[in-house]
Amino acid sequence: MAEGQTGAAGPDLAQGVSLDELPDGGKLLGKVGEEPVLLARQGAEVFAIGAQCTHYGGPLADGLIVGETVRCPWHHACFSLRTGEALHAPAFSPVDSWGVEQRNGKIFVREKKTPVPALTRTTSGTPKRIVIVGGGAAGFAAAEMLRRKSYEGEIVILSSDEAPPVDRPNLSKDYLAGNAPEDWIPLRPGEFYRDNRIDLRLSATVERLDVESHELTLLSGEALRFDRLLLATGAEPVRPTIPGASPSDIFVLRSLADGRAIIERAKAAKRAVVLGASFIGLEVAASLRTRNIDVSVVAPEATPMERVLGGEMGEFVRALHEEHGVVFHLGATATAVDEGTVRLSDGSTVKADFIVAGIGVRPRVGLAEAAGLKVDRGVVVDAFLETTAPGIFAAGDIARWPDRASREAVRVEHWVVAERQGQLAALNLMGGRERFTASPFFWSQHYDVQINYVGHAERWDEIAVDGNIDAKDCLVRYKRGGRTLAVASISRDLASLEAEVAFERGAPG
Ligand SMILES: Cc1cc2nc3c(=O)[nH]c(=O)nc-3n(C[C@H](O)[C@H](O)[C@H](O)COP(=O)(O)OP(=O)(O)OC[C@H]3O[C@@H](n4cnc5c(N)ncnc54)[C@H](O)[C@@H]3O)c2cc1C
Ligand code: FES
Repeated sequence: MAEGQTGAAGPDLAQGVSLDELPDGGKLLGKVGEEPVLLARQGAEVFAIGAQCTHYGGPLADGLIVGETVRCPWHHACFSLRTGEALHAPAFSPVDSWGVEQRNGKIFVREKKTPVPALTRTTSGTPKRIVIVGGGAAGFAAAEMLRRKSYEGEIVILSSDEAPPVDRPNLSKDYLAGNAPEDWIPLRPGEFYRDNRIDLRLSATVERLDVESHELTLLSGEALRFDRLLLATGAEPVRPTIPGASPSDIFVLRSLADGRAIIERAKAAKRAVVLGASFIGLEVAASLRTRNIDVSVVAPEATPMERVLGGEMGEFVRALHEEHGVVFHLGATATAVDEGTVRLSDGSTVKADFIVAGIGVRPRVGLAEAAGLKVDRGVVVDAFLETTAPGIFAAGDIARWPDRASREAVRVEHWVVAERQGQLAALNLMGGRERFTASPFFWSQHYDVQINYVGHAERWDEIAVDGNIDAKDCLVRYKRGGRTLAVASISRDLASLEAEVAFERGAPG
């Protein structure tokens, strides 16, 4: 899918630009033919790569150069300036790269380079069969990286889902709002798995893991041996039971099937109740408003998202949704449903044709726990994402890993973190010894406002606001003992990227 930048702006780089226009460390947007090209200089070297991010089309010229890489301002994908490779998710496909000639103080962009196949990371002791349990963000990213790094052995993905890996964040955003067709949702078309010899088995639930014999048993009774294993079983939504409500009246949103079901029900509906005022609940509320459905949000907290973003950001989010017609019933829970009327704990009632619950998720740690792996509010992994059983790794929503910046063992439920952990786990599954040092990052979309968040702050004693939250232009720092633990931002993409780099270097300030 490609949105954002279209057409090409800036100077024609084939005709040449003066080296003076590109100071060391600088970047410049130009074009070659009709293609937007980013020129970047590192010392004496000048690089030319495609200027449009292969994730959702973000403008790389507005991104951050870090060494020989550029990071996308929208969702922080990272590309190599030298080769165009998408080094870190959420982008997977490379951007093009061009040869550059420097002559008489001018830079000329020449012919497009042919991509060079990535090097195999390990040659000896490489496992014959790598099995991945989970066909979501982490599982997909791991399989893709294994093949990208020329892993030649067998790759099997076992997934409970009926659908191949999907762009899960989109399910509550453009897809639910009706702005993204369903063919945008798969992360890759079916041929990708066939062409890359990835044995993707759908509706294949693993019931048992035997750590000693390296064997998995599926719900179907089939047994499968592995040499190395990645557990990436994600999380499942909490399903509330409300007296009087039939299960078919209450929807949750995790899978493509869940998304389809909500869209089907929304077609003939006028009113919906959303339970939960956190990210998924409020994104669902925004998308249903786009479909002109009256939405009431019911949640026990006094301010939406306060636990994650603090009071002032929470009030901003509430006001934003109210401007778009969402009605909040805060400090309340649903106690009963009676023929299209939802009764609330504060005595009030709300009419609804259906209910969507976004009241949290539980990490699917049962498989790991039953196998005897260490579990502590998540599957415990080390900096290499290896569990307490050698050769068995875990990534994504289930993994609790030692986070460098916060100096705590953390588990988060973020798309980009799951993908990046899958990518790193792939290297270690092949025998590498790479540490996971990426800083947690997520974004959340509410109408025309995107909130970006880097770092991890479960508690803080100070919130410092730079800019103006109500003006949708701010950088909010969450601090404890004077140290910044996390940064939320609106319209401050570069500062968000800079904070990410600082967290990765362990010096958030
Ligand atoms: C609607 C929605 C919107 C979101 N929006 C955002 C966002 O904007 N930004 C953000 O950062 N994050 C967002 N998230 C969170 C993000 O999607 C998750 O953090 C991410 O998907 C976690 O990846 P994962 O690989 O750990 O798990 P998942 O992507 O959930 O994948 C888990 C996989 O494991 C399979 N599985 C589970 N148990 C078994 C088993 N026993 N046997 C076989 N297969 C099994 C499942 O079927 C699934 O395929 C959103 C989530 C949802 C649901
Ligand atoms: S558009 Fe670049 S990371 Fe999403």
